[in-house]
Amino acid sequence: MDTGLNKNLPRGYKLTLLAILLFISWQCSIVSGFKLRSGLTYVNLKNDIAENITLHAHCRSADDDLGPKIISYGQIIEWWFIINLFETTLFWCNLWYVADSEGGVVSGSGDIFRVKQLKGCDDKCDCYRAARKDGVHSYKLHPQPEDYILFGWMS
Ligand SMILES: *[C@@H]1O[C@H](CO)[C@@H](O)[C@H](O)[C@H]1NC(C)=O
Repeated sequence: MDTGLNKNLPRGYKLTLLAILLFISWQCSIVSGFKLRSGLTYVNLKNDIAENITLHAHCRSADDDLGPKIISYGQIIEWWFIINLFETTLFWCNLWYVADSEGGVVSGSGDIFRVKQLKGCDDKCDCYRAARKDGVHSYKLHPQPEDYILFGWMS
């Protein structure tokens, strides 16, 4: 008695199914030296500078322009994207804030996401960034806690 649905599926179809299953189960993990990933990479940028300090951010990649954003203290901006086949996906941000009542501006710009910085992302390809007084940090809790400065302020 042949009850196995599987048996009747053409080979090519099974391979396609397998490929789809693999694709959706891939995470931001390293397999034999290659980073295998699927779907979307996530970047989250938080204003962690100081109370009452508003962060201005304009982040871009070669393909996407997120436009100018205003981030209140404690708030975030976030976006998702697909890493291109050539793994050259890069987002950079121009950031600035008014630091004091005299109107002194602190600004900085740098790469907020590079494929090489995936180590600065957690195992789900979620990448957390925080603008602080001493610079823009990359931080994560999983799998190992990590926190380092990606780039500093210019003034
Ligand atoms: C932030 O602004 C509020 C309202 O103006 C003020 O009460 C508070 O003292 C300010 N906090 C700081 C750290 O300057």
